[in-house]
Amino acid sequence: MTIFKKIKDLQEFLQLQNGKIVGFVPTMGALHNGHRSLIEKAKANAEIVVCSIFVNPTQFNDKADFEKYPVTTDADIALLMDSGCDVLFLPEVAEMYPDGLEKGSIYDFGYLETVLEGAMRPGHFKGVGQIVSRLLNIVQPNKLFMGQKDYQQCMIVRDLLRQMGKADTIELVICPTRREADGLAMSSRNRRLSEPQRVLSGILYQCLVSIQSKKSTDSFALVQKECTDLLKAKGIEPEYVALADAGDLKILDNYDGNDSMVALIAAKVGNVRLIDNLILE
Ligand code: PAF
Repeated sequence: MTIFKKIKDLQEFLQLQNGKIVGFVPTMGALHNGHRSLIEKAKANAEIVVCSIFVNPTQFNDKADFEKYPVTTDADIALLMDSGCDVLFLPEVAEMYPDGLEKGSIYDFGYLETVLEGAMRPGHFKGVGQIVSRLLNIVQPNKLFMGQKDYQQCMIVRDLLRQMGKADTIELVICPTRREADGLAMSSRNRRLSEPQRVLSGILYQCLVSIQSKKSTDSFALVQKECTDLLKAKGIEPEYVALADAGDLKILDNYDGNDSMVALIAAKVGNVRLIDNLILE
């Protein structure tokens, strides 16, 4: 695997690849088996796999969260080499934001950035749009691989590709969420959970499964309250337990008989904020 820290060096290398199909996996590091599955998917569907590791300051609305974000570069490099990644792009902040954090294209995602994660983390998706657009302009991939765990982010990136005029040239491949044995969605944040918190956290997935299993029997409001009460009883602080149209993320008050619904959850276990979702089958 070749590691590049400078945009110019990465681009020179990519230009020499003679039009090979480039698969791109953007990350913020602290890699786990969920990322490994993205790399493997990219490897199977592209001729050259580029991964980026960049903890993007502009997408953290909470400075403390940014400062606590785990940095495990040596272990990340080992995982990437082991999973067959060809290129790692590992830039510094000054490389990505040479004119300061405020500069660069700022996209408007309308409704999508006002609900759920957008409402809880003001400015977060602006930061995601800012960095992903920059990364896409640098790497110019044919395929972009992202995890379904960040469902709303995937929808934001889909809209970003449309706004950038790249929806036809970059294929967005949304990959299934990888889970631990108890259902907890793999996430870089999980490593900040203490052992007892880790054990408790499996309950988020149980809530999603219960929302799914009760979709033809109960009212969503009832299931939502059951989940919220259960989380609180376990000392977990729910931020939202929501049901939405899987296509446009319009919030639904009740199961609407529609096939494309997604249940989404965000909760704080101690000071670790976790999110997860399930497309209701
Ligand atoms: O999902 C992430 O890790 C980040 O939001 C991303 C897409 C790499 C942008 O910084």
